[in-house]
Formats: sequence, C-alpha cells, structure tokens
Amino acid sequence: MLSKLIQRRTLGVFYGNVKVSMSSATTAATEKPADEALSSECVFERESKYGAHNYHPLPVALERGKGVYVWDVEGRRYFDFLSAYSAVNQGHCHPKILNALKAQADKLTLTSRAFYNDVLGEYEEYVTKLFGYNKVLPMNTGVEGGETACKLARKWAYTVKGIPKYKAQIIFAAGNFWGRTMSAISSSTDPSSYEGFGPFMPGFKIIPYNDLPALERALQDPNVAAFMVEPIQGEAGVIVPDDGYLTGVRQLCTAHNVLFIADEVQTGLARTGKMLAVDHENVRPDIVILGKALSGGVYPVSAVLCDDEVMLTIKPGEHGSTYGGNPLACRVAMASLEVIEEEKLAENATAMGELLRAELMKTPSDIVTAVRGKGLLNAIVIKESKDCDAWKVCLRLRDNGLLAKPTHGDIIRLAPPLTIKEDEIRECTEIIHKTLLSF
Ligand SMILES: Cc1ncc(COP(=O)(O)O)c(C=O)c1O
Repeated sequence: MLSKLIQRRTLGVFYGNVKVSMSSATTAATEKPADEALSSECVFERESKYGAHNYHPLPVALERGKGVYVWDVEGRRYFDFLSAYSAVNQGHCHPKILNALKAQADKLTLTSRAFYNDVLGEYEEYVTKLFGYNKVLPMNTGVEGGETACKLARKWAYTVKGIPKYKAQIIFAAGNFWGRTMSAISSSTDPSSYEGFGPFMPGFKIIPYNDLPALERALQDPNVAAFMVEPIQGEAGVIVPDDGYLTGVRQLCTAHNVLFIADEVQTGLARTGKMLAVDHENVRPDIVILGKALSGGVYPVSAVLCDDEVMLTIKPGEHGSTYGGNPLACRVAMASLEVIEEEKLAENATAMGELLRAELMKTPSDIVTAVRGKGLLNAIVIKESKDCDAWKVCLRLRDNGLLAKPTHGDIIRLAPPLTIKEDEIRECTEIIHKTLLSF
C-alpha cells in the first residue's frame, strides 16, 4: 500500500505547459488560474504516457465542437471533414439531440433489460416503422451490431434454413471493415487488423468486393447462411461498387436462400445522400446494421433491423447487452433520426457532395489521381512522392484549418457533417486546393 502511494506521488500531471508532480497536484490545481488552458503538446504527451498506443491520431487536441466546426485547446477553429468517422452526421453538439440527452438524463438513464423501461418500446416502434422492418435489436457500438447480425444469421441457418449444426458459413467481401472484435478481425483482409491476433473465428469466407460472379460461386455451398457487405466500403478508402452490384447481391442471395446483411454503420443515415445507401438501388437487405450517426455522436447507439423470421430465432437469454436499449440511448436515437429527417440531411448530402466532388475534380491530376464518393462520403487519392503523402497533406490541411485523416496510405476521406452549407463547401475546397497546390 505504502509503495503504491509512493509510486502514485511520483507520477506527473500536466497543467498548462507545466508538468507538476502528483504530490503537489492538489496545490497546483487549487492555485491554477481559471483561464489557464491545457496546451496541445500537454494533451499529446499525457495521452501517450497513460493511454494505450492503439491509435495514431493527427496531432490536434480538440476541446469544443459546434455544427461543422471544432476548436482546439488553443482556440483554433477547424472544419471537421471526418465527422468522427460519420458518427456526427447531424453536426457537433446538435441542440435537439443534446436536449433529448439532458432531459432523459434527469429522469432515468439505465435499467438494464432485466426490467422494462418506458422509452424502449417507443423507440422500437419508431425505428422499425421508419426503416420498414418488423423488429429491432438495440446494441451500443457498430461492431456489436455486426456481431449481432452474425449470430442472427447462424441461428437462422440452423433453425430455419436447416444447415447442419455448426456448419454455417458467412461470406464477407475483401477490404471490409466492421470493427475490432475477434469476429470482425477474423473476416478482415487487412493485416494491421488481424496480424498477431489468431486463432480466428471459423465459418467465415472472403470473396472479392464488387464481384457478382465470385458471390455466385461462393453461394453454391449449401451451408452459406449470409453475405455481409458494406454498400460502399468506407475504411477501405470509400470504394463505390458498380451500379447494379447491390441489386445483383439481392437477387443472388434470394435465389440461394442466403441472408443479405447490409453493414450501414458508416454509409447509413443520410451520409451517401439516402437514408440508407442500399436505397440508391432500391434493394431491401434481410438485415440492416446501423450505428455511429444513430446517436449524432453523443452516445454509443447501434441497432440491428430485420423481420420476425430472422429476429425471433434468438430467444430470451441468448443475446443482449447491459446498456443496449437503455432509455437515454433510445431518446438520443429518436432525436438523431428526427434531425436527419427534419433538416433534410440526405438531400443536402447529395447536393453538397456533388459540389464537393466537382470542385475537387479541378485539382491537377499529378497531385490527386482520383476523386470518388457518393453524397458526403468521399475520398481523394494522393499521388505520393518523396515530399508528398496523405499524412503530410492532412497535416498541412490542419494548418490551413481543415481536419481530415488518411485511410489506407494514399487515400484521404472527406466526410464533413451533413449540415454543411454551400459557402462552407466552397471555403473548404479553397483550403483543399491551396493545400494540395503547396506541394
Ligand atoms: C462499416 C462499419 N461497420 C462497423 C464499424 C464499427 O463501428 P464501431 O467502431 O462503432 O464499433 C465501422 C467503424 O468504423 C464501420 O465503418
């Protein structure tokens, strides 16, 4: 105990630019002037010292956000062109979502599913009617949504389709990303996701993305339960499949009695210009996974939607989560969905996305080799050289007041909040042009 105390007293704590020892931290805290802020450097150092090194953030320390903007601890303002990986579609700190959070937080936050609460049913009715499915299963993170979909597919395979016990296969597309759990990395083709973490989940098969003949071949196996796919691959670098791909996936899955699972965690909720990205081809998956913007970035909320034939294969006690379906999450999710509809964010994403891509296309092709995307889920591919790569471009974009993050080497995703306006898009494309031309 004593040695622990001594150890604690030698740890450092940062106040402003000054590192003080723990023993004097209390004094420093009380003496610290009210307006003395933490510097960016201190934020970086403290996280690096006490936090796991499982991320490589762009060096910018944020403390405030509003709409399309975020501010760092030194008060510098930036356009947010990542939107927390599309979780903040509604813009930072949307007042309607925050009010829903605050009002419910004063009443009841969590009961667990051991008891009923008076908000869950209201949310379930709202979300199922909005998306046109019989039932919803509420979870928290996107990856839990993916896990839930896989469990549903396996249960359906054994109890409805009649696949022999524990022989069910789930097919995934190369380049997929759906999180960091053992199942998610077991279906990954990215070594930085899976390398060093085996043994992996059995019963998964990977085929190329945007390849209907490959899917057709894979579906010859009668033990296939499901095909899980992103309508546009986000983390892979905003890979947009050919027109007709999703229609073909639907037809093939129907023909082979295989569940079509759409991972809409990143593409859903107006990001690509439709409420769901599958709406671009008017196809209806058997299972839809939602997350991220389902809470507008204020709270982890995810959901799996499907019809009774699939959902009711899971019985009481067979799946769940302490926080899934809690009243706070349900209120936040309803407010977040209402904002998307009331503010016509899908329509705005379409219009602003077209403008953004048209402006980006004007960049010389010896700097940007490709511009692609749908709605406000976009990416540019940087022509790498000794002096220029995607990371360096993002650093200079930051210096010019715009935050974006490389995904997979030479690709930079450009995905601002869907509330962004035309003059802001024009200002941002000027920043992007100026930055790119400076290389
Ligand atoms: C398509 C897709 N699915 C699932 C996930 C996982 O979501 P979460 O990080 O909330 O677990 C992500 C995260 O980026 C994603 O892009």
